Amino acid sequence: MTEFNTRLVHGQGVNDNQTGAVNVPVYNSSTYQYPAIDSQVRWDYARSGNPTREYLEKQIALLENGTQGFAFASGMAAIHAAFAIFKPGDHIVIGEQIYGGTYRLIEQYFNERGIEFTAVDTQDLAAVKHAIIPATKAIYFEPITNPLLHVTSVTQIAKIAKQHNVLTIVDNTFLTPYLQRPLDLGADIVVHSATKYLGGHSDVIAGLVVTKTEELGKKIYFIQNALGGVLSPESANLVRRGIQTLAVRMDRQQENSFAIIDFLKNRDEVTEINYPGIKGSSDNQIAATECSGFGGMLSFELKQDVDATAFVNQLHLFKLAVSLGAVESLVELPYQMSHAELPPVERLKAGITPQLVRLSVGIEAATDLISDLTQSFESLQLSQSSSNKFKRIKRRAI
Ligand SMILES: Cc1ncc(COP(=O)(O)O)c(C=O)c1O
Repeated sequence: MTEFNTRLVHGQGVNDNQTGAVNVPVYNSSTYQYPAIDSQVRWDYARSGNPTREYLEKQIALLENGTQGFAFASGMAAIHAAFAIFKPGDHIVIGEQIYGGTYRLIEQYFNERGIEFTAVDTQDLAAVKHAIIPATKAIYFEPITNPLLHVTSVTQIAKIAKQHNVLTIVDNTFLTPYLQRPLDLGADIVVHSATKYLGGHSDVIAGLVVTKTEELGKKIYFIQNALGGVLSPESANLVRRGIQTLAVRMDRQQENSFAIIDFLKNRDEVTEINYPGIKGSSDNQIAATECSGFGGMLSFELKQDVDATAFVNQLHLFKLAVSLGAVESLVELPYQMSHAELPPVERLKAGITPQLVRLSVGIEAATDLISDLTQSFESLQLSQSSSNKFKRIKRRAI
């Protein structure tokens, strides 16, 4: 078999057309002609299968070392499909720091339909074991949490899951198969928001599921075809194209992240930096063992007297936006943006303070990104010193 980076570019190969095109065509056809009434046809109707979508599905299955891949209209549709294989009365252990949209789906949709969930800190293996009950059918988690970048061992969770005969389901959005392949570490199902690193250009909403066994594949296919939340051929093509450059993008994103961290370490305004690549933490130990890199997401805590809102508002290159994983750098305040749906107490309990800044580091020149952060810190200092001056003048006037 070829190397991973070659597989990213060449996928399955293209051999279904007479033109010599090096890329799979975008098949914009909802239906397919039968040669005759009793013909056995591979393609009949595009909800059930589309050659462009199938190319992407095989591409992601190959990269994750799974048996089958499935492409959905969003990450949430993919996650919905993974949970939809369970029945009322089933119980699932979930990571307590999972994506808010996933939590909403669980709490306000699946829970109401009879599936029980227990949320635990998946870094705490004893708590995970403790949460398993006879009705438990799966453990679902994100190996790197958002926005604090805590790392959970897929190997350890999958080991516990196997001991209790339950499935391990991993949201691999942050790492992608370039940096971690959960199925190789013992997981059974991998889900992705392909909107993020796999698509990589903030121009498509997409989701993927990959299964380890054909039996699980059949269950996901049933949901995909029965519910119909499939990815369009145009969007499948965008994700396919994004995947081809995944390695070069993520290498640069990681390189830039390290450069930014070196810069932030020397800023007085910053009290803490969260990134699994920083040596010394237990997060780093797990990531260094189970991942081949640390990704392009990082967060940091600003001192209490630093105006976090002004800091992000004054950035120019870093766009103030939710989402992540694309070529352009993004910044956000999780307390006010991505995690605003959580009640304030829950946010603070999870370590998400108003002073926490999250960066999705892009592929721009690191020097420009650092200049942008520098100018924002400096303009904060300027406005701070002019407001102090103003206070002094006022005091003298009194
Ligand atoms: C880790 C993770 N999983 C799933 C999703 C949902 O994906 P989508 O927005 O493509 O539906 C997101 C979205 O931000 C995410 O960050």
